[in-house]
Amino acid sequence: MTDKVLDPVALSDWYVVATASEIEPGRSEQTRLLGLDVVLRRNTEGVCGASLLAGDGAERPMTSIVERYGLIWLCLGTPRREIIAIPEFDESQRRVIRRGRIGVATSGQRVIENFVDLSHFSFVHTGTLGGYDNAEVPEYRVEFREDATELWATECRFMQPKASAAAGAAEDVLYDYRIWSPYISVIYKDSLVCRGKKDLICLFVQPLEETVSVVHSCALVHDETNSDNHILHFYHEIFAQDRSVLIQQLPKKLPVKPRRDIPTISDATSIAYRRWLDKSGLEFGLDRSLP
Ligand SMILES: [Fe+2]
Repeated sequence: MTDKVLDPVALSDWYVVATASEIEPGRSEQTRLLGLDVVLRRNTEGVCGASLLAGDGAERPMTSIVERYGLIWLCLGTPRREIIAIPEFDESQRRVIRRGRIGVATSGQRVIENFVDLSHFSFVHTGTLGGYDNAEVPEYRVEFREDATELWATECRFMQPKASAAAGAAEDVLYDYRIWSPYISVIYKDSLVCRGKKDLICLFVQPLEETVSVVHSCALVHDETNSDNHILHFYHEIFAQDRSVLIQQLPKKLPVKPRRDIPTISDATSIAYRRWLDKSGLEFGLDRSLP
């Protein structure tokens, strides 16, 4: 156990620790959260519980465990708020594509910062989410909502050669980014199938350790033509590209101070995210040593 485990800000928040269907009745699974061993167990009646596993093997039952959106949510302390509201999960017109869990050897904050960074599209996702001919990031808005508990970047516009598995041609796509917690973000993106509607891409990072993460992800998309496999392959290719960049970034813990080089428009979300993290009092996964 490290000191960071006692981080009260980290302990009072909600994390996704599994897809609900992954733990069948009568089965259990051991995982990690915030540097601690956790056992998830579903009884034969189908109710899922969680325990904290001590060094001597003793289990301490956790009470803050909830199944929502087909995911298992856990808070190791006293939750300071409700789980994120994503009403689109209850609407019937989108398909829910669950991308499973993908391990990444870096902090969750690095994963989220990359997720909300528009400038990497052209160089990391060349040919799908961006292209060398349209690398410039147009101006967008950054604002705090819900009493500054959420950070949003809105009116983000980007020319994308293939914005989704269902996309037929290059289009200028409008994005809103919602950062609900240091480890959870949702993209609301123009659907190219149902005009005027949004597709959602949800990223739920489970911080196993400060610099080891598991990414649980769901896409809620309007798409009546492509198979689940085809859509999954599209997103897996995108995330494989992100992952190859993420594992190279140093330091792995995210410095809370904005980068020292001259900021550009595309850095506005990153700068706001780091300042927001700094003010939150969170320690876990952050590098506060740099000037
Ligand atoms: Fe990316």
